[in-house]
Amino acid sequence: MTSMTSQIFEPNGEGIQAAAAVLRRGGIVAFPTETVYGLGADAFNEEAVRRIYAVKGRPADNPSIVHIARASDIGLLTPAVAPDVVRLADAFWPGPLTMIVEKRPEVPGVTTGGLATVGVRLPDSDIARALIRAAGSPVAAPSANPSGRPSPTAAAHVLADFEGARPGAGLAPDAVLRGPDCRIGIESTVVDMTASPPAVLRPGYVTAYDLSNVLGVDVTDAREGGGEEGAAPKAPGMKYRHYAPEAEMLVIEGAREKVESEIGRLKTLNEGIGRRVGVMLFEEEAYMRAAHDFFARLRALDREGVDLILAGALPMADGLGFAVMNRMMKAAGYNIVKV
Ligand code: TXA
Ligand code: MG
Repeated sequence: MTSMTSQIFEPNGEGIQAAAAVLRRGGIVAFPTETVYGLGADAFNEEAVRRIYAVKGRPADNPSIVHIARASDIGLLTPAVAPDVVRLADAFWPGPLTMIVEKRPEVPGVTTGGLATVGVRLPDSDIARALIRAAGSPVAAPSANPSGRPSPTAAAHVLADFEGARPGAGLAPDAVLRGPDCRIGIESTVVDMTASPPAVLRPGYVTAYDLSNVLGVDVTDAREGGGEEGAAPKAPGMKYRHYAPEAEMLVIEGAREKVESEIGRLKTLNEGIGRRVGVMLFEEEAYMRAAHDFFARLRALDREGVDLILAGALPMADGLGFAVMNRMMKAAGYNIVKV
């Protein structure tokens, strides 16, 4: 089953049971988490996971994160839980941390993009955990956006992406569990626990510094996505556009006053030649707010129909600032000027 339009369920007991029933019969449910909305299916049902990839338009070799309802359920997915995995689970679960661990043979290859590992997360959202518990099986869920587009941080974003509003829209999730806006707003930190020392593959709210403090070793911080001066993306895939708005996007990096005046200058210049310009400039040091608003702002600017987005870079010395910058640089296709 895969539909053209989605049933909408409210996040109460009845709605959660109905959404879980959709998962149990192999359907796809978009649901809220504390990070972003996920597009979920039973992680052990190959056909169902394949349909997620069809609905998302996602390449089959990009693995999905598997979500569990209680920490001990990690044993359903991996044969051996290392002490460091237990330490991080104790410290950060439920929460925005995904751990990459060796997978059990029972976990289908379609779920893990053909890898021998699986990414596991226990979300800090009562609605998400209730849904997974009622489904009775771990839930594979990439972010609920069409591949390449900004992640959804509100139920309305999911509905806008899949309810025929999008040109060329076809498939939609079978159901959308209409929960609250996501508290954090950027996706979970992904840490590879099969590497020694563990390595952050995707930065997020939980920083490499936080992980290092718990483990007592220096967790590698990928620093990809424009982290350090002149750093090139590590994998070829990282140079492709991700989280891409419709508009062209340019990041301006430098001291605050210089950034503000350069944005003003570029705005005037571009408007002078008839282009519509949107500005994304977060308050200084308001990193939580920046993470919370980032994807929603991108979507709002697209809805306004701007041609060019001028975005002020966040300082990357802050862990959350770094995580937001990872998304901002990808959204802009690494289009940056320094002032
Ligand atoms: O916050 C989140 O993580 C959200 C919510 C729904 O939980 N999910 C999410 O999923 O962002 P997705 O599919 O959009 O991003 C998952 C990332 C991808 O970059 C994927 O390549 C990586 O995690 N990943 C998943 N499993 C992996 C594995 N076994 N090895 C390496 N990377 C993996
Ligand atoms: Mg995603």
